[in-house]
Amino acid sequence: MKERTVSDKPRSIVILTGAGVSAESGVPTFRGPDGLWEGHRVEEVATPEAFRRDPDLVLKFYDARRAALETVEPNAAHAALGRLDAEFGGELLIVTQNVDDLHERGGAKRLRHMHGELKRARCTACGARQQAPQTLIDRPACSSCEATGHLRPDIVWFGEMPFHMEEIDRALERADLFVSIGTSGAVYPAAGFVRIASGHGARTLEMNLDPSEGTFYFDEARHGPAGQLVPAWVEEILS
Ligand code: APR
Repeated sequence: MKERTVSDKPRSIVILTGAGVSAESGVPTFRGPDGLWEGHRVEEVATPEAFRRDPDLVLKFYDARRAALETVEPNAAHAALGRLDAEFGGELLIVTQNVDDLHERGGAKRLRHMHGELKRARCTACGARQQAPQTLIDRPACSSCEATGHLRPDIVWFGEMPFHMEEIDRALERADLFVSIGTSGAVYPAAGFVRIASGHGARTLEMNLDPSEGTFYFDEARHGPAGQLVPAWVEEILS
């Protein structure tokens, strides 16, 4: 196989983002001292069993996270990825594990939310997806079948299948550059993307505050805040 160097211009890029890309906007990450999972037990709020057992607790948790989105803005990393999306002429897929809407507000269009979106709801009676109303705790009616009491957050909970996996797998197989930004590499299948991409010949780059659990699998790692690293990297790609 041809030797790859940092200066090779990619034709097909897959970018995976995690909570670290939104940290500088003030959205809490999951793991670590101030992480969301320090204040909540995953199995109480983020599993289908939790929703069956105590729907009010789960709906309240997601209503609060949805409301918090109104108080945050995209940061320099989201804006840089929006610029990349607008200006990069090759193939691009931005896959985010984040359920906030900061990538789209930063201008990203070639974007897939593999863990769902806070601003979307799904009806468990008819399956229709819709824009989430401000709150789900008061049991609004489904805009499609009009049943009440069946709307759940359109979020992928632990034990559920992530969204868009076929499209993501195809893109990983075609990519000549895979970039992971702001994710701890603790949750599969996303944590395995680096090995799929490199197994198909992609060069791989990690940008994270500190080495992720999978840092060893990357060809190159840059450690620091995404708000600084990502704009500099996008500049390199577009120049
Ligand atoms: N810039 C870059 N990286 C950062 C920054 C920053 N400003 N701040 C924090 N990080 C890094 C942390 O060092 C950590 O490695 O971002 C990573 C965030 O890791 P997690 O909190 O584990 O978030 P994530 O990897 O997105 O979690 C994956 O776990 O609970 C589930 O469904 C949830 O999608 C989530 C998944």
